[in-house]
Amino acid sequence: MFAQSSSAQRNPKPDSYGDRNLTLVGANREPGKVALHVDALSKSYGDKDAVSGVSFDVRHGEIFGLLGVNGAGKTTLISMLATERPPSGGDALLLGHSIRHEPRTVRRMIGVAPQDFALYPTLTGAENLGFFGRIYDMRGAELSSRVEQLLDFVGLQDRGNDRVATYSGGMKRRLNLAVALVHRPKLILLDEPTAGVDPQSREDILKLVRRLRDDGNAILYTTHYMEEAEGLCDRLCFLDQGKVLAVGTQDALLRNLEFSEVIELKGLSPRVDLAPLRALGGICHVERHDGLVRLFVRRAADLLGPLQRIISRDKSVRLRIAPISLESLFLHLTGGEARE
Ligand SMILES: Nc1ncnc2c1ncn2[C@@H]1O[C@H](COP(=O)(O)OP(=O)(O)OP(=O)(O)O)[C@@H](O)[C@H]1O
Ligand SMILES: [Mg+2]
Repeated sequence: MFAQSSSAQRNPKPDSYGDRNLTLVGANREPGKVALHVDALSKSYGDKDAVSGVSFDVRHGEIFGLLGVNGAGKTTLISMLATERPPSGGDALLLGHSIRHEPRTVRRMIGVAPQDFALYPTLTGAENLGFFGRIYDMRGAELSSRVEQLLDFVGLQDRGNDRVATYSGGMKRRLNLAVALVHRPKLILLDEPTAGVDPQSREDILKLVRRLRDDGNAILYTTHYMEEAEGLCDRLCFLDQGKVLAVGTQDALLRNLEFSEVIELKGLSPRVDLAPLRALGGICHVERHDGLVRLFVRRAADLLGPLQRIISRDKSVRLRIAPISLESLFLHLTGGEARE
């Protein structure tokens, strides 16, 4: 349907995705200015509070990470912002427009890459982009040049005329992202955009997302991969059972803690009494979960001697010391348990 230019025959180098000089969405919209203001947003399904009183802002030029385990409420929140499900309470304003009172206006301003692919497998990549572009009243030369530009951006220019059913998981994820951008949205909602892809494809997608951020876009990014969020997100929100546990930059979230390292002991017998360790001081918090003991400490080096004396009685115990990470902070905030 959409003819590919001669440039489409080039073989894309994966590491060049997103490096092209394109105005993809609407570059440099006053970085730092609030694009989305979420105010006490809630959603119940019967008795179940899937999202409860969630508030945060997303600014232009930032990747705002919404982090939470399976069932935390990430997709429910995204679908309310995308005006696909009505909130039970609260509201969100996109550049002053309410998702409750102006859903049609908001819908045209938002680009969503859903967790479950929103792609037609029997159509080609270019046809999918064309289909979604027409929904937003794009036509003719404007639409075909936009389709080509986006295929180029996501490194699919030489596969744009192939049916999506023949794409790998990583290619589908990249096309799913391109679909979200077709109408130059003012807010980009990415729901687990790297789910199910290999590490190289993940890096390719993260590079695209950073490029969009560097162009000044406001991006809401959900993931349950804490390590991914660590290297990517400018600010973060921990969501657990529909509620916000903490919001801030990674530095601010980690700086406010009284501990700075975590000692993990794997395989420690449940019979081992940890009271002598606690008595030493310097241990701020102890968690025991599924055969793993986590000690949240000020300085691990101060405790290694006494720890060795306890561990040396049991050769199967493995010890790991790590600086405090988002994952350990999240486990601490949720009491150390991943919930379904
Ligand atoms: N349509 C629905 N009807 C009833 N309950 C629902 C519905 N959609 C979601 N839920 C429930 O709401 C809660 C939040 O689900 P949601 O899909 O928003 O979580 P999530 O953080 O996106 O999880 P995941 O990481 O698995 O994608 C879960 O307990 C889920 O079972
Ligand atoms: Mg989800």
